[in-house]
Amino acid sequence: MKILVVGGAGYIGSHMVKRLIQGGAEVVTLDNLSGGYRDAICGGTFIYGDIADSSLLSRVFASHDFAAVMHFASYIQVGESVIEPAKYYQNNVSNTLNLLDMMVAFAVKRFIFSSTAAIFGEPQYTPIDEQHPKNPINPYGRSKWMVEQALADYDRAYGLKSTCLRYFNAAGADPDGEMGERHDPETHLIPLVLQAASGRREQIRVFGRDYDTPDGTCIRDYIHVTDLAEAHWLALEHLLAGRDSCAFNLGNGNGFSVQEVIDAARQVTGKTIPCADEQRRSGDPARLVADSRSIRDQLGWQPRYADLDKIIADAWRWETRSGGS
Ligand code: UFG
Repeated sequence: MKILVVGGAGYIGSHMVKRLIQGGAEVVTLDNLSGGYRDAICGGTFIYGDIADSSLLSRVFASHDFAAVMHFASYIQVGESVIEPAKYYQNNVSNTLNLLDMMVAFAVKRFIFSSTAAIFGEPQYTPIDEQHPKNPINPYGRSKWMVEQALADYDRAYGLKSTCLRYFNAAGADPDGEMGERHDPETHLIPLVLQAASGRREQIRVFGRDYDTPDGTCIRDYIHVTDLAEAHWLALEHLLAGRDSCAFNLGNGNGFSVQEVIDAARQVTGKTIPCADEQRRSGDPARLVADSRSIRDQLGWQPRYADLDKIIADAWRWETRSGGS
């Protein structure tokens, strides 16, 4: 079984490549290394390139018989998407359509898509289930929702089956310490807190303590990246079994506040972790928690690393081992 992993050199993609290889799949990674690292790919074939490049894509599809495509190559910064929407629509939408069209042309009919909680916008209720209205409030969220809608049309018209996995807050690192989060710039809470713990960053800024939550800081649903990879594996099995297209929300169903994350990180690392209070960051909802019963019921997904301390401990091992690379 040969799988094309687009963006396999990135944070979540690299954990997926490892899971696929462990499962006996043959992996071809296509990545332009704009946000990924060649040394994060633990095996299989690597092709340097961009999904905007149709002639490259057609050569890749002509020379491999893929059972499915997994797509992790997108821009993910909400704030940047507001300032540079074109970058997000070009890559996350237009280039993705280019990839889908190539799949249709070569009759590759199974696609697993990295979607996001950002498609829901400001939550109308929590935990957020799959039926929650989709009202993205920034170009990043809109770019992902556009692709989800295109996928429904591609299924109806071309029989292209897809699974959309809407990540809540991906975090942690490979429990064996082989790979982890290396965004540049880093904007995510847990790696930033751990950089403040290791001394790589002076302090962690807490964006708002006046939210309507028990301690006033925002609540998020952190999901271990290895559990995310497992969900993709199950989604792949689902499509390979000839089942229908679907979309799942993916989180642990537990919310932790920014302050709770900092406290847990102090506990796990034994470091003080200096904090500074800041104004709210624009566009941050107070509480984002997933209702993931659907993927549990339908695909049998069970998070193995739901414990926040474990998520932080694995990220800490990566932070202290990678030394800032
Ligand atoms: N935060 C801080 N200080 C920091 C960084 C973050 O207080 O230095 C806070 C944020 O304000 C937020 C929480 O920590 O309340 C989590 O922030 P992250 O940036 O780690 O994650 P987000 O919840 O903003 O974003 C995640 C994904 C996005 C996705 C979004 C869905 O990373 O890709 O969820 O809304 F779009």
